[in-house]
Order: sequence, then C-alpha cells, then structure tokens
Amino acid sequence: MFLGIDIGTSSVKAIVTDGVTLVASATAPLTSQSPHPGWSEQDPSTWWNATKSALHELNTLASLSEITAVGLSGQMHGAVLLDKDHTVLRPAILWNDSRSTAACAQLRASLPGIGEIAGVLPLPGFTAPKLMWVRDHEPDVHAQIAHVLLPKDYVGLRLHGSLATDRSDAAGTLWLDQAARDWSAIVASESATDTAWLPQLFDGHEVVGTVTETAANETGIPRGIPVVAGGGDAATGAVSLGATEAGRGFISLGTSGQLFVAGDAYSPNPAKFVHAFAHTVPDRWYQMAAMLNGARPIAWLADQLGIAEAEVVALAETADPARAPIFLPYLTGERSPHGDPNIRAGFFGLEDATDRAGLCRAVVEAISFTFADAAESFGDTINDLPHLAAIGGGSKSPFLLQLIANATGKRIGRAAGSDAGPALGAARLAACGTGALALSDLGATPAISDWFDPERSDLTTTRLARYRALYRALQPLA
Ligand code: XUL
Repeated sequence: MFLGIDIGTSSVKAIVTDGVTLVASATAPLTSQSPHPGWSEQDPSTWWNATKSALHELNTLASLSEITAVGLSGQMHGAVLLDKDHTVLRPAILWNDSRSTAACAQLRASLPGIGEIAGVLPLPGFTAPKLMWVRDHEPDVHAQIAHVLLPKDYVGLRLHGSLATDRSDAAGTLWLDQAARDWSAIVASESATDTAWLPQLFDGHEVVGTVTETAANETGIPRGIPVVAGGGDAATGAVSLGATEAGRGFISLGTSGQLFVAGDAYSPNPAKFVHAFAHTVPDRWYQMAAMLNGARPIAWLADQLGIAEAEVVALAETADPARAPIFLPYLTGERSPHGDPNIRAGFFGLEDATDRAGLCRAVVEAISFTFADAAESFGDTINDLPHLAAIGGGSKSPFLLQLIANATGKRIGRAAGSDAGPALGAARLAACGTGALALSDLGATPAISDWFDPERSDLTTTRLARYRALYRALQPLA
C-alpha cells in the first residue's frame, strides 16, 4: 500500500492506495494568516501538525503499518526560509501573497528574457520575488537564510531529514531553467538568492530519503520506508489523471484553479500568463493557466452568509440567471490571464430585488468564467482536446461543472475520487518509486463516471461578455 500526502492551503489530505485505487482518506484543516493587506502566510509547523492529525485519523481507517512508500504533493510557490540548523526563520509566504509586486517589476527590468527561462513572467505569487522582499524589508531574516524549501519539501524534511525538491515544484519558483530542468544561476543571483540555498532536484518518482525513527514515532508510518520527491499540486493532480502524456488536459477546482495541458516539449507563452513548467516526470512539461481564486469564492461567500458551501451552490441553482448580478472573483488578485496582483473582487448590477440566491449564482458563475478566460488564453491547444477531466473539492458540484462546460464550450468529465486528485497522484509516484508501477503506467486514465456537455446559451455569452468588460473597466481603479 502507498501513502500520498497533499499539503493544501485549507487542509492536509492523506490517502492510502493500492497503487491505483483509493482505499482510505483523511484530512486535517489549515488556516492562513493575513496580517497586512495582500499578505498570506502559514507557519510551517502547522503543516507538520496537520499531517500528523490526518495520519492519525487515516490509521483508524487503514493500517499505516502496511504502507511501503510515501509520496508528497503540495501547494506550490511558497517560500519556507530556514537557517543553517534547519530552523524556520519566519512564517512561510504563500502562493497567493501579493506583497512582492515591486520586486517583480525590478526582476522584469533586470532580466527582460526571464519569461523564456522561467516559463512565466514574474508575479508576486512565485518564490523568487518573495526573497527580494525579505532582503528589502527583513534584512536580519535574509542574512540568516541557509536553505529555501517549498511547502511539501518542508514536510519531507520532517519525514526523512533531507533537503530535496522535485522539478515540478521547483518550476514554480522562477529559479528553474525550465528547458534545462536545472536551477538558473542568473535568475537566482538577480533575485537575492544564493543557489547553495536551493535543494537538490529530483524527478517526482525518485526516492529522496527514508522515514526517520522520530517521524515514524510521531506519525505511525513505518520507519525506513522510502519517500519519493512527489510534485507540486498541479503536477500530482495531473499524475492522478494520466496527464503525464502529451495532449491530456484537466481543470482543478481547489482553493486555486488551474487549466492544465501536458506536453512533451517546453513551449513558453508568457504574454498570456500561461505558465510553461517542467512536469514531475522526466521529459515532460506542461502549460497551465493558474487562477488564484479557484473555487475559494464559494467558501468566502458561505462564510459571509453563515451557511455551508453546498448551500451556496444549492441557492445559486434556484436564482434567475438573467437577473443575478455579475461577480468579479479576484479576492486575492489574479494570475492567469491578467497577471494583475492589484485587482480585487466586486459585485456589479445589484438591484433592490437581489437576494442571497442571486449573490450565490453570481459567485458560482464567476468561477466558470475564470475557466472561460483560461481556455481562451490557450487558443487551439484547448480546441484540440476531446474533453477536460475535473479534480479538486469544487468538482463535487455537478452544477459548477455544468456551468464550466457551458462557459468554456468544453466537455468536462469527472472521475470517482476526483476530489483527492493531488494526493492520489503523489501515491502513484510513490508506487513508481518502489517499482510497483512503471513510469509508463502513469499515463493510465481513470474511468470517467459523470460527463457534462456544453450547452451554450445567448445568456451565457452575454453575461461572459459583461464579466470581461467589467474587468477592463475596473482594472484602472485597482
Ligand atoms: C499553481 C498555484 C496553486 C498552488 C496552490 O500555480 O498557485 O495551485 O499550488 O494550490
């Protein structure tokens, strides 16, 4: 049996598989802190504590003593800063933190070709500009940095004691030369980073260490079993769906959203903020539109209304779509396709008769519109795909998937267990690391249990056009 652990933003998910099929899963919640506008932080120790909680629950559902290998997955781009003794220097600065906007402008000016090297233009979500911010605002912290890790790799350090990452997570730092699949000395030196601080690079199925005695005692995972490098959550989600083979695509609906297409060549498209990143498996790259707000606006509105997320979606279904307001979902700015850390969310078109159902409809629909924008920025690459699979917590909602099919014009397919995607992918990589699966087996696609065929109406077309016009109108005010 294989264990996959996904360090998300709102929870840690731990799952057990027999290599392919989900046997049991458990989650433990996480919270983020925003001490200043635009900041988003988590204390790395909370990832380790949540991992232990999830594993303790998992142990009641499936025997962890039968686990033979572990794979890690995690939220990408976060900066975990450690001193020479591996002590955490400050809270991790996360993927949805926008404090380093000025550093991004500096990096673009000093390295005009950075989009071609790093596969995407500098934006505050990525790791490199965060180090520049720390240099400029917390020089005492910067002076003590001896190691920089990504979120899942910090949990890896606690599990096996080594400083390691995989290429798909390294891809989201801006420090990776995507074509060479190795660290870029020039990007590092231009972004206040010593390449000696960066962890050793592996492919996702490669074993980076074994579970230490301390970690075994704390978690219940057998001591000495191998831990593979794993991948950033986008890449491990891909592995769960067989999107390691060129031309396979999917959407992910978590706290963030992604439209992902696998390829066997590096093809950067920086103008549209489509990310061209190294995949977690050898000789593969992927293109990804990354939407910062994903399905999160549903959780946000549920909190504000004091109702469950499922109720937001249920209310949305009852609203008159023609009279619902339009919502811009940019609660934390946006990456693809706008590259705009300053834009913020808003409702437009509220009338006296607007009720909760109308607000819910606008919010759920807006998520589908972010995917329409993403699909448009891919051009023909998307038109050529027969369908897009769907994973992530938001994929549990048939209504949302139908709206996404309508807005993108693409057939959407949902597989059983789709909400556990990245953790499943990590477990598959663990199975590969032990030889139980071959790399070529990762191309196997899960059976799709539910299909959502596009039904494009004039109303969808009109509302999408208003949504796009609203962003253009509000962008100068942000
Ligand atoms: C991808 C991205 C998110 C995070 C958190 O570019 O920012 O997917 O990995 O899920």
